[in-house]
Amino acid sequence: MSARPADPVRRGLWPALMGPADRDRDELCLVGATGHQVRFADGRMALCGTSGLWNTNLGYGNEAITEAAAGALRDASYLSVFRYSNEYARAAAEALLALPGTEHYARVLFSTSGGAANDAVLKLVRQLPALAGQTGRRTVVGLLGSYHGLTYGSFSLTGENLGQQLYGVDPRFVRHVRPNVPADLVELFEREGPRIAAVVVEPVLGTGTVELQQGYLDTLVALRDEWGFLLVADEVATGFGRTGPMFASSTWPGRPDVLVTSKGMTNGTSAAAAILVSEAIVECFDRHEQILVHAETQAGTPVSSAAVVATIAEFERLGALRTGAAAAVALDAGLRRLQPGLPAPTSLAGRGLFRTLHVQDPDAPGTPVPGSAVAALVTAVRRAGAVVHPGPAGIQLIPPLTYTHADVDQLLECVTAGFEVVAAQGGLRAPAPTAPSGALEVAS
Ligand SMILES: Cc1ncc(COP(=O)(O)O)c(C=O)c1O
Repeated sequence: MSARPADPVRRGLWPALMGPADRDRDELCLVGATGHQVRFADGRMALCGTSGLWNTNLGYGNEAITEAAAGALRDASYLSVFRYSNEYARAAAEALLALPGTEHYARVLFSTSGGAANDAVLKLVRQLPALAGQTGRRTVVGLLGSYHGLTYGSFSLTGENLGQQLYGVDPRFVRHVRPNVPADLVELFEREGPRIAAVVVEPVLGTGTVELQQGYLDTLVALRDEWGFLLVADEVATGFGRTGPMFASSTWPGRPDVLVTSKGMTNGTSAAAAILVSEAIVECFDRHEQILVHAETQAGTPVSSAAVVATIAEFERLGALRTGAAAAVALDAGLRRLQPGLPAPTSLAGRGLFRTLHVQDPDAPGTPVPGSAVAALVTAVRRAGAVVHPGPAGIQLIPPLTYTHADVDQLLECVTAGFEVVAAQGGLRAPAPTAPSGALEVAS
């Protein structure tokens, strides 16, 4: 702990993952949002280049979703899926099952967040082998650099070091391997194959928008065929058109056994996540007449379920996959045009509307800029008029699928302006080394 004398404690909101100096700043306090614009308490407006927290994929203030949610609140303020079912949740499950365009998934479990849904997944994938008497099969494999949430189960799976040890997260039944290194996977299975219950991956890792390559996915699917573990696609972020198709895993060489989705599912209007479970898994639970011990009071409520159904209908009505694809092409072309004029070397990662512009020290090309430069860039771009997300040694651009070409141009103008401000201040260079602060950085 630092020995800095404490300021008098102020009362109020403790926003997530924010240091004390930022907590009460009006510049960072949102008061409203409409279309692609957000408004801050200091009166500034900004173009949203992050789709909220990667979830308002259709922009803010969608009337049809608002109406559907309001109607559900009026007509059925609360109904559970806890030892009951409800019609709203049934309709949402059916709408979700129709999306992947396959009969492969049979049932949908609702949750309230990506993290909680991944907790449920960890239980599911450990219970399934136990039903077949394989009680030693409990290990779950995740990827280094991955993000699956911060609840205790999902935190164990998250492959970035964000303080798991400090918080007492149990690492015993989790392993992490490098993404896109098939040899790591093969070696792990040679060592521990019979104990591995599942492999959980983001199709594009949100932190740095690292795409899983085709060859890696081929190995993953081949290993599943060989070892019989469950393959889980964490599409909390990549679902709902973020990378192009409705679900990124639809282009994999084999279907995942479990698909988790959340962020775009209600267009950011409700705390909702969904776990789509394959027919084979459901059949096994049914045959053994077993229940999965996971339940959340606010999962599958009328309001969140109605929002799911309306969001899916709005995707169709707005042709969001088509508009998203056009925006993605414009964003890619715009970024490539902008790169040579920036005051630092950069490289691009990601796909669709899930992109990272990695930045290197202008004095030492090849050296990633430090976290202080990323923070300075995010602030400068925001002051220039657009919200972007901090990424590892870069900024992440994650705009709504409804972005117009004019929105893309405006976003990139703000990015350029932000770079110029930070470069003029010398903020893109590595600062003189200081003692480590022990601070934790979380991408989303
Ligand atoms: C791939 C992935 N999984 C899980 C989560 C956690 O979701 P939540 O913040 O809703 O718990 C996130 C959040 O960014 C994510 O991107």
